[in-house]
Amino acid sequence: MPGPRARFSGPLHPIEVASVDEIRALQLSRLRSVLRRVYAQVPHYRAAFDAAGVQPEDCRELADLARFPFTAKADLRANYPFGLFAVPREQVARLHASSGTTGKPTVVGYTKADIDTWATLVARSIHASGGRPGDIVHVAYGYGLFTGGLGAHYGAERLGCTVVPMSGGQTEKQLQLITDFKPDLIMVTPTYMLTLIDAMETGGIDPKQTSLKVGIFGAEPWTEAIRTEIEARTALDAIDIFGLSEVMGPGVANECIESKDGPVIWEDHFYPEIVDPVSGQVLPEGEPGELVITTLTKEALPVVRYRTRDLTRLLPPTARSMRRLGKITGRSDDMLIIRGVNVFPTQIEEIVCATEGLAAQYLIYVDKDSHLDHVTIHVELRHPVDPARRTALGATITHQVKALVGISALVEVLDPNAIERVVMGKAKRIIDRRLKE
Ligand code: DLL
Repeated sequence: MPGPRARFSGPLHPIEVASVDEIRALQLSRLRSVLRRVYAQVPHYRAAFDAAGVQPEDCRELADLARFPFTAKADLRANYPFGLFAVPREQVARLHASSGTTGKPTVVGYTKADIDTWATLVARSIHASGGRPGDIVHVAYGYGLFTGGLGAHYGAERLGCTVVPMSGGQTEKQLQLITDFKPDLIMVTPTYMLTLIDAMETGGIDPKQTSLKVGIFGAEPWTEAIRTEIEARTALDAIDIFGLSEVMGPGVANECIESKDGPVIWEDHFYPEIVDPVSGQVLPEGEPGELVITTLTKEALPVVRYRTRDLTRLLPPTARSMRRLGKITGRSDDMLIIRGVNVFPTQIEEIVCATEGLAAQYLIYVDKDSHLDHVTIHVELRHPVDPARRTALGATITHQVKALVGISALVEVLDPNAIERVVMGKAKRIIDRRLKE
């Protein structure tokens, strides 16, 4: 019987294997039309282009996009709720929203055609992940204003799968449905997948013996160490799906099961750039920086040069003709600066996951006392150990964090399951208590 890795064979859309020239030509014609459309339909873009002294006609080649102004989350907030829509509100078939740190959510809208494109791209993503028509797909991303659940759902339906719209939470119920319905694929945050695996083990279900063959994980940064952990504890292929609501939702980019080398950006619909997060200069391909995306086909909410805040790099094509994203090291808003050293939670994650005896769980607390930042890292034992071993594990993490990240941290090694699990939504890794002062 062929193993899951044989699942990659199957028909691809011609654009997925088109020549680079064909892809670039399609991108340029779509880009020019998006720029014309937003300039004509959205007062914000008209004002921003005028202020930057550029007109849609100034975009004669793809590189000319660098002359156009960025769009930031603040622009969506300033135009709350519908001010950036490029179609009359009556043509908006659906709204989604994400809650931000400040009061008002970020609102995004879709025409019927946008929902159709989204479903097509998530179907393409599930296919790239090894999913096939007829598969059962268990969706444990949250349904509702968050784009994860409904985005995954429409894509799985479009591919011709049987969809289980479980949503997040209710861990016991998740396990019951996985056991009884025997899904082939699961779509869920990597953190909640770990919780499901823990719950299976506690409940006497062997995670290697479930029907699941593929997990499509995203909505939060996750490292290769977590992929290794999930694949070692289950019989799953763990595949990376990337997206953000302002650009569409899940399915902006998706990894291919045959290469597992970073999500392929569906470049027929999105134009990626990597810029220096401080200067905004476009960086040469392969350099790390902030991902900026321009939508090429969105009708209701086209975005031009949207600053994602995600830090990554563009990698050359492999399994498809389109470029890939490197692993996202973090969001610039998640970066801690501890006594001058830049720290990303993913760096701590790699150290914790590489340490025998610790669960793939951690929380980073930051406090300030007499002007100095203090970091405390909570890690968790996989199984109970004696006090000497616990102390040794704490010392190992402290040493590794100092050696590899460059900061001094207090490490507390907690009992198994002591760190609270997130069962709905995204994992929160940092608790910054400095802000309370
Ligand atoms: O998280 C959409 C999504 C749902 C993607 C389900 C994948 C799966 P937002 O809530 O707007 O949308 O959050 C978008 O989440 O800018 C990244 O910082 C982060 N993110 C999403 N996918 C990944 C990933 C959805 N695969 C923000 N790796 C993005 C790392 C990711 N970070």
